[in-house]
Amino acid sequence: MLKGKIGLAPMADYTDYAYRELCRNYGADFTFTEMISIEALIRDKKESFNMLPKENERNIGIQLFGSNIESFIKAGQMVQNYGDWIDINAGCPVKKVIKKGAGSALLKDLDKLGKIIKELKNNVDIPVGVKVRLGFDEDIAEKIVETVQKNNADYVIVHARTQKQLYSGQANWKRFKDLSKLCDIPLGASGDIYSYNDAKILMEEYGADFVVIARGSIGNPWIFSDKKPDIEELKEVILKHSKMMINDYGEEKAIRRFKKIFIGYTKGLKNARELRKQVAYINTYDDLINVVKGIE
Ligand SMILES: Cc1cc2nc3c(=O)[nH]c(=O)nc-3n(C[C@H](O)[C@H](O)[C@H](O)COP(=O)(O)O)c2cc1C
Repeated sequence: MLKGKIGLAPMADYTDYAYRELCRNYGADFTFTEMISIEALIRDKKESFNMLPKENERNIGIQLFGSNIESFIKAGQMVQNYGDWIDINAGCPVKKVIKKGAGSALLKDLDKLGKIIKELKNNVDIPVGVKVRLGFDEDIAEKIVETVQKNNADYVIVHARTQKQLYSGQANWKRFKDLSKLCDIPLGASGDIYSYNDAKILMEEYGADFVVIARGSIGNPWIFSDKKPDIEELKEVILKHSKMMINDYGEEKAIRRFKKIFIGYTKGLKNARELRKQVAYINTYDDLINVVKGIE
């Protein structure tokens, strides 16, 4: 489980099969699915099943979100043959999610979070970890980590912000130093890792056992190996990425979804501004090829 040290974090609407495959190609040691609703799985919703790992994927965690303990067990049992471990989402700050008591709302009810972990551990045959934030309104990370450990989770990943902070300010890396002292299970760090070097620093100086990278990997799968592509490789990867998405979603949906990822790929390019303007108007793969030809 979580073999290696630098993995791809879960990101809704981004970390689908194509995204994961590229990050693996460039050195991500492990990956996660996007967060998948336990209630949707139980209702047999096709789109949610499509988010599960594919046959060839290894070292992959299935991230589940929800709030009902029975549903967690049912969904966990349904998906366990598809991945290597289950990750409980206790960090999502989005209103729609917390309104239902899921995601970071679980940090306000640590008894419940503890029960979910314990029951899942007792009822599925693969490891179970948790991804959390420092707290909901305030930083209560020690309490959270204690709860997670007491209920025998196999690891904990901490995004070093509270729910209230959303994505603002700086992730509080110093907290990993504190938490690593009391954490007996593998401690994963998340938040503001924008280079391979950041990842190394978190592990060497801040006590993280492993790290997961989210935004820093958008249009930058090279972050996992500290390698920089030349323009030709960049063009190739953009077309390969979008082609893989077309295989999975069909052209229309794939191109729509790919636009925001394309913006990531243009970061630092001489004519990034112009390329971003152009991509806003495209509808087809051929349109995309034309934009990619203009990359300088
Ligand atoms: C667009 C987007 C979608 C995300 N979706 C998820 C998700 O589905 N599950 C989850 O646990 N975290 C999710 N996150 C949080 C990230 O996994 C990560 O913890 C956070 O972005 C901080 O790391 P970063 O600075 O490397 O982006 C998401 C973040 C972003 C930006």
